[in-house]
Amino acid sequence: MKDMRDFVAVCEEKGLLKRITAEVDWNLELSHIAKLNEEAQGPALLFENVKGYKSPVITSACTTVERLAIIMGMPEDSTLTDLYVGWEEKAKKPIPPTYVDKAKAPCKQNIMMGDDVDLYKFPVPQYYPLDGGRFYGTAHFIITKDPDSGWVNLGTYRSQLLAKDKIGTQFIKGKHADIMLKKYQKLKQPMPVASIVGCDPILFLLGAARVGAFTSEYDVAGAFRGQAIEIVKGEVVDLPIPAHAEIVVEGFVDAEKFMEEGPFGEYTGYYSGVGTDPRNFIDVKCVTYRDNPIFWGTTVGRAVTDSHMTMALSYGATLWQQLKEMRIPGLKAVYCPPEGAGRFLAIISMTQMYPGHADQVLTAAISTEMGAYGLKTVIVVDDDIDPWDIPRVMYALSFRFQPNRSQVIKRGRSTPLDPSLPIETRDITGRLLMDATIPYEWKNKPIPIELDPDMVERVKERWSELGF
Ligand SMILES: Cc1cc2nc3c(=O)[nH]c(=O)nc-3n(C[C@H](O)[C@H](O)[C@H](O)COP(=O)(O)O)c2cc1C
Repeated sequence: MKDMRDFVAVCEEKGLLKRITAEVDWNLELSHIAKLNEEAQGPALLFENVKGYKSPVITSACTTVERLAIIMGMPEDSTLTDLYVGWEEKAKKPIPPTYVDKAKAPCKQNIMMGDDVDLYKFPVPQYYPLDGGRFYGTAHFIITKDPDSGWVNLGTYRSQLLAKDKIGTQFIKGKHADIMLKKYQKLKQPMPVASIVGCDPILFLLGAARVGAFTSEYDVAGAFRGQAIEIVKGEVVDLPIPAHAEIVVEGFVDAEKFMEEGPFGEYTGYYSGVGTDPRNFIDVKCVTYRDNPIFWGTTVGRAVTDSHMTMALSYGATLWQQLKEMRIPGLKAVYCPPEGAGRFLAIISMTQMYPGHADQVLTAAISTEMGAYGLKTVIVVDDDIDPWDIPRVMYALSFRFQPNRSQVIKRGRSTPLDPSLPIETRDITGRLLMDATIPYEWKNKPIPIELDPDMVERVKERWSELGF
């Protein structure tokens, strides 16, 4: 799979994509169809007749585990946890991207430069009634380059359409684009950026993943695909662009310039603040795009939507990967529920091997790149419990958990989107580490009740005689 068109073809062949040919308004109607469809775990949607536009919009690409598996090249009956394991294995052998000739790069088929740039030429949706406007970048990612080391980062940070040649940014503090922007500020230079809409969907998943600093998501994408991602030079920015992208925005972000941006209905089910906020923006200098470009959007809002499923994979898989890299023995499985957008709550199943082992896993989880950012609650359970089996997790929390063995960490890196904190003080979060295992060091462990196997057989034989 090298681009969005391959994904559409695969999904269509498997009956996992629906083309909508009836006219649909980009203003709320499209997003509402997508949201209701996603609540029903419906197919990916290709809107072919968006009011006032000739080119299509795709939504709901990542809504089901089946489609996430297709993107990752994994068996379609995989569970989310299987995908975490596959992610860790596939990511082991990074392959750097390779430049191709411009003539072989479909993303260069059309070009708008300078004053001709007009982002309203694309069918950008408005998602919710109180949103500050149309959101250009939802299922997109922004490419930036570290001025010191040359490290190229791909990160998904929302972008509001603010003017025909301006899109907003929301680089949350400490995100890789934010770290780089501050370096350009010191150099007194605007930061070159490119925003990519529509591409090999693995690039978007990686843009939304907690890939550590100094690792390029391009190299990891190459590992997933088993071959180098094809890239091409930008027209006005010296950044590597996916050759098969649908729409490429090139421009600059000046750390000292701001426009009013937002609000936006976030994945928490709430608006992040109370109104608009001054934010940095991309001053767009050039747009290149394929013929009949497919505009890709993802819905957010109350769980579970397409973006919750995206994050349940991208955050959960990176937590599993980073825990495995710590080489802690006994890890069985991790589950980051989509209901928590895969990032606020993690459940880990493990085989205990020594006293304090469960505590080690709990503190390790919040020390990973993923966990150090906003993960609020971690639960460990013994290996007889699958972490995705929520009734069994509730059982462990009822009969094995002891509040006096839990730990509250008072201060950790938070997200400004967490609605459980007051809007003005969302920099720092607490964390709760819940040990729902039977302590390894106990000499006298609770004796589990088992049925007598012979009696079970006998009762089963008599089942219909007993009138069941
Ligand atoms: C649909 C979607 C929208 C997102 N929007 C933002 C955003 O506006 N700002 C932000 O900092 N992170 C946002 N994220 C989360 C980041 O993509 C994620 O934290 C990622 O790790 C950032 O890349 P980085 O680690 O290279 O900085 C979003 C994720 C998704 C799936």
